[in-house]
Amino acid sequence: MRTIIRNGRIVTAVDDYNADLLIDGEQVVMIARKIDVQADKVIDAKGRLVIPGGIDPHTHLDLPFGGTSSSDNFETGTKAAAHGGTTTIIDFAVQYKGQALNEALDVWFKKAEGRTSVDYGFHLICTDLPDQRLNEMKGLIDQGVSSFKLFMAYPGVFLVDDGTIYKAMTVATEKGGLICMHAENGVVIDIIVKKAIAEGRTAPKYHALTRPTKAEAEGVHRAIALAEIAGAPVYIVHLSCDDSLQEVTRARDMGVPVYAETCPQYLFLDYSVYEKPGFEGAKYVMTPPIREKWNQEKLWRGLQSNDLQVVSTDHCPFCFKEQKELGKDDFSKIPNGGPGVEHRMSLVYNGGVASGKISLNRFVEITSTSAARIFGLFPKKGTIAVGSDADIVIFDPNEEMTISAKTHHMNVDYSCYEGMSVRGVTKSVLSRGSLVIEDGKYIGKPGYGRFLKRGLFNSPR
Ligand code: URP
Ligand code: ZN
Ligand code: ZN
Repeated sequence: MRTIIRNGRIVTAVDDYNADLLIDGEQVVMIARKIDVQADKVIDAKGRLVIPGGIDPHTHLDLPFGGTSSSDNFETGTKAAAHGGTTTIIDFAVQYKGQALNEALDVWFKKAEGRTSVDYGFHLICTDLPDQRLNEMKGLIDQGVSSFKLFMAYPGVFLVDDGTIYKAMTVATEKGGLICMHAENGVVIDIIVKKAIAEGRTAPKYHALTRPTKAEAEGVHRAIALAEIAGAPVYIVHLSCDDSLQEVTRARDMGVPVYAETCPQYLFLDYSVYEKPGFEGAKYVMTPPIREKWNQEKLWRGLQSNDLQVVSTDHCPFCFKEQKELGKDDFSKIPNGGPGVEHRMSLVYNGGVASGKISLNRFVEITSTSAARIFGLFPKKGTIAVGSDADIVIFDPNEEMTISAKTHHMNVDYSCYEGMSVRGVTKSVLSRGSLVIEDGKYIGKPGYGRFLKRGLFNSPR
């Protein structure tokens, strides 16, 4: 199958030019001003951007959590991702206590197999790492699962102690792997949460009010210190606030290899969502919580200065009805997480490029290229170049759309951005040369997506 994309404006993290592009099979084989060869399919991209498929390195599909499971599985979640211009996700497999790492991973392979419309990789969340298991991490890195998430939060569920974090960092870095940290002082937060519940402060807003920014910043500081002692790089997930960003910035200024992602919910939403009437605030119960508005401008500064390298979603949806309602009388029982995988590209384009905060190149870098480098996928993914996978998004920078649960494709009954109008719309999407979305319509096939055996950690820049 040969496809030509004609007349587009090709934008990567470093380039911006008008050209035609020829795809043969799964890869880009030629880029030239004008391509005149026989092709099975010609796509006219006049007036549109031709950008690398988005990479979302933080999703939770089919995740058992908080007494229920995230409402998108690998079929619905990856279709929604494709609709929004994301052609690669990296999801989190979970090792439960007593499980071998490979056993844990196999469960997630089965969840994904035959269901995904775009390519996918896995990180592994490790919850139980006695010394005899540490070496299993090396085996996983060889199998293309080259990053691990460790939690300083959720005592009794996911939390691991500092010694474990230090040891895991040491072992992972020996093999070129990377530790991703959920950085929050979960032990202290737990005490604050229990006190709030005992005093009858049970409404959703107390989820935010019991998780101070300093508890996150302390976790970030500790994660960085442990990484320095271990001589390892570290990647901070879902960074939400300026207190945490200051820790990252300070370390990076000293030359410490710290990397961090933030998410659209921290860039576009603020604490006032928790003050909505009734139980509405439950829609935004996620961890870390959404912060006071002034933090947003600091996070944008972080993205501009490259102290933050990635915008991921932490897509972990739970339906308002029946799932979020599990915490009707106790915010600590509301399953933590929110939907987002479908609208990341449009939200970041609208709030970043259309509003003049970042360049088009930087938009590509933070939604695709940096994640590809950090998580061992570059240059197969994350750019448009001869020899790269033809994961390509044809994006209309002028079209506007209104985000709504009525029209989105995620399997969840609400949107955090309901009614928000955004400029920048994904029109067509190719995954390894195959059209998955054509003019906004899904024409892909569940099961087309392939597991990505990822390479080693690379510094983004
Ligand atoms: O609230 C969130 N973020 N849920 C998903 C789990 C995590 O910590 O990423
Ligand atoms: Zn987390
Ligand atoms: Zn997460």
